[in-house]
Amino acid sequence: MIRRAFFIVIAALALTSLTVQAGSTPARAKLGMVITQSDIASQVGFEVIKSGGNAIDAAVATAFALAVTHPTAGNIGGGGFIVFRPASGEPVSYDFREVGPSRASPEMWLKDGKYDFDTHHNSHLSVGVPGTVAGLHLAWKEAGSKPWTALVAPSIKLARDGFEVSHGLARSLASMIPEFKKYPASLVQFSKNGQPYEAGDILKQADLAKTLTRIADQGPAGFYQGETAALIEKEMKANGGLITAGDLKAYEAKKRGVVKGVYRGYDIISMPPPSSGGIAVVQILNVLEGFDLKAGGYGSAQNIHYTAEAMRRAFADRARYLGDPDFEKDIPIPMLISKDYATGLRKTIDPKKASKSATNSFTWTSESPETTHLSIVDAKRNAVSMTYTLEYGYGSRIVVPGAGFLLNNEMGDFNGQPGLTDERGMIGTNPNLTRPGKRMLSSMAPTIIAKDGQLFMVTGTPGGRTIINTVLTTILNVIDYGMNAQEAVDAGRMHHQWLPDRIGIERFGFSADTIKLLQAMGHTVQEGGNQGAAQVIVFNQKDNMLEGGVDRRPADGGAAGK
Ligand code: DON
Repeated sequence: MIRRAFFIVIAALALTSLTVQAGSTPARAKLGMVITQSDIASQVGFEVIKSGGNAIDAAVATAFALAVTHPTAGNIGGGGFIVFRPASGEPVSYDFREVGPSRASPEMWLKDGKYDFDTHHNSHLSVGVPGTVAGLHLAWKEAGSKPWTALVAPSIKLARDGFEVSHGLARSLASMIPEFKKYPASLVQFSKNGQPYEAGDILKQADLAKTLTRIADQGPAGFYQGETAALIEKEMKANGGLITAGDLKAYEAKKRGVVKGVYRGYDIISMPPPSSGGIAVVQILNVLEGFDLKAGGYGSAQNIHYTAEAMRRAFADRARYLGDPDFEKDIPIPMLISKDYATGLRKTIDPKKASKSATNSFTWTSESPETTHLSIVDAKRNAVSMTYTLEYGYGSRIVVPGAGFLLNNEMGDFNGQPGLTDERGMIGTNPNLTRPGKRMLSSMAPTIIAKDGQLFMVTGTPGGRTIINTVLTTILNVIDYGMNAQEAVDAGRMHHQWLPDRIGIERFGFSADTIKLLQAMGHTVQEGGNQGAAQVIVFNQKDNMLEGGVDRRPADGGAAGK
C-alpha cells in the first residue's frame, strides 16, 4: 500500500515537473548578446561589446569571423543586408546585395535558346559582384565606434592560426569534397589533400588571412582593388566568368530606409527591396491581424490554414511586383504593406477551404538552405539584424586561388528565362530579370521589432524563400502564442510559397490529426526536413534582460553574452 502510494506521488511529481518544465529556457544576458551559427564567431562579437563596442562594431567583427569559421555561408565573397535600430534615432538598412556584372544580360542563362540550370547556378557565370566587404564598411563608417582594423583583426587570427573544426563543420566539409574537386583551390583550402577534415582538427586558411589583412589595412580597396581584385579577375577570365576589375571597383553598398508595419501594436522594422523579405513579412502579418490566432492556438489546423493562405497571397505578389528598386521604379510598396490591401486579401480567404494557386501563374525554383543570420544587441540596446549569404552552401564552391575565399552563386536568384513561367519551377517575370549593375531579388528578412518606442525583438534566418515564413513564425510565436525566445525558435515550422501549391511542414513539427484536418480543407501537405536556422533575441524590458533563442536545427551555433 505504502509502495503504491509512493509510486502515485512520484508519478504526480513527474507529471508536475514535466508540466512546469515544458518549453526551453532562453539564454540570458544583460550587457549584450550575439547569436550566430558559430560559437566562435558569437564570442568574437561579444568580446567587441564587452570592450565597449556597439552593435554595428560587433556585427562587423562577427561577420568577418563567420567568413572564417562558418564557410558554408559566412563570407566576404557574397552579400546581404543589415537592419540597424539604434537605441535612439531612426532605423536604417544597409544593402550589400551582389550585382550583375557589366556584361550580364537577361538571356545569359540560355544555351541554344534553352534555359540551362547549371550555367545559372553552378558556374563562374553564376557569381555576382560581391557586396559584403563594402556593406560592412559602410555600416561601420556610419555607425561604428571602434577602429576598423581592430574589428577585422580577430578574423585574421582565426584564419592564420586556425580554429578547431566542429563535428558539424567536419560533416559539412566532407559532404562537399566531390564539389570542391572541381576547383583545385577549393579542395586545397577545405580538405587535407583530398581527405576530409575531422572534428578536432585545426583548419588554417593562410590565403584568406592575407586577404583579410589587405581589407584591414586598406578598407574596401583591399578587396575591390589591387591584388584581391586582380586575383578575382584572373579566375574569372580563365574560366569564362564575367566579373572584371572594373565591375569590382564600381561596386557600391547602399544605405536605405526600412519597411515598417504595425502588428497588434508592435512596430515591425524590416528590409526593403531588393529583398522581398520585409514587404512579405509585413503583408502576411497584416492579413493575419484580422484573425484571432491566440484563440485558435499554436499549431491548430485552423491557424495553419489562415497562415498558409496569407503566405500564398504574399508570395504571388512577390513574384509579380518585386525586384531591384533602382531598376524597377514602380514597385507599389505602400499598397503592398497597407492595412486596406490586407483587408481585401483577407476577404478572399475561405475559413474552411484551401484556395488554389493558379497553375499558369508564378512558381519558383528551389534554393538550398544555406545563408546565415546574426542577431545582436549591445549595452545601450542598439540592435542589429543581419542576414548574409553565398546563396548555396559554399556558394559557387569556387575559392579564388591565392585569395582564399569562396565566391557566391547569387546570380541564380535572378529569373532564368525572360517570359517563361511554368510548373517546373521557372519564373520569367520582368522585375527580376538579369541586368548589369542590378541586384537580384532576395528573400532575406532581417527584422527588428519595437514596442512603445523600446526594442522588443530581433529575428532573422537563412532558408531561401522559407526565410520569410520562418521569420514570420518566430514573430507569431512570441506575440500571439506567448512563447519565449527559445520556444519560438524550437517550435515546428511551416511554409507556403504560392506555387508549388502545398504546405511544407517540418518533420515532427505538427500532429498527424492536424495534417488530416488540413488535407480535409483541400491542402496538400508535404513533410520535409528542417526549415531555417533562426536567431532570436527578445528584450525583456521589465528585467532589463536579453533572452536569446538559438536554433539547434543546424549543427553549430550559439549565443554569447553576459
Ligand atoms: O537571397 C536569397 O533570398 C537567397 N539567395 C538566400 C539563400 C538562402 O537562404 C539559402 N539558404 N539558406
